[in-house]
Amino acid sequence: MPNTVLHTLIVIHAISAVLMAWPFYALVLTGERGKLGPPLNRADNLQENIIRKQSHRCLVYQISLLITGIWIIMLKADGALLHTFQTNLRMLAKLLLLILLVGMNIYMVFYLQRRIDENIALLPADPDVVPLIAKYRGRRRWMAAICLWYVLMAVVLGVQAWASFGQTFIILAAVVAALFVIRAYLRLSPWGWF
Ligand code: HEM
Repeated sequence: MPNTVLHTLIVIHAISAVLMAWPFYALVLTGERGKLGPPLNRADNLQENIIRKQSHRCLVYQISLLITGIWIIMLKADGALLHTFQTNLRMLAKLLLLILLVGMNIYMVFYLQRRIDENIALLPADPDVVPLIAKYRGRRRWMAAICLWYVLMAVVLGVQAWASFGQTFIILAAVVAALFVIRAYLRLSPWGWF
């Protein structure tokens, strides 16, 4: 029975990680909208509705990752949670990445998204708000790129949760992940990986 619980937790953890791929698709979505250019219209309402609701879903997946991650450690390390974080730096780094992701998500929901929505609501009566919307959206876009790198690194560290592939591998993976993110940010990765 305990094994069934553990196995279920690992599966939920892995699926939550898959569902955290959103920053990649957010870059694709906002990049495609950017290519259309002005004016701001119903396409923007659709985009903002998707992004706003997805931030809430992301928070659910992030909390799921935290709960299942801690629970897995408790089961696998016989309750030695603190000791695991002290001795396993990959695990500690994953925790920090998750805290950063949650923080950025909260900033997005309660600060950036609100300002974007408020300013879009002033259109078309007040066209002066357009540069402001572009400024907030630009910030949200590069923050999505950073979030994507955090998620990729959490996966890279996740598959090495209990046994490291070595420092060189981690550094190389971090560089490759950064190149992938830059490509997604600038060119929307038309060939999937590139
Ligand atoms: C964005 C956040 C995170 C992502 C994307 C992520 C992703 C992953 C992935 C892909 C795996 C490999 C699954 C497997 O092969 O079993 C994994 C394993 C693991 N993660 Fe996470 N993780 C995240 C956060 C966390 C946090 C915050 C913790 C701890 C508090 C944690 C603890 C673990 C543990 C213990 C394993 C090993 C599971 C096993 O024993 O097989 N993860 N993670």
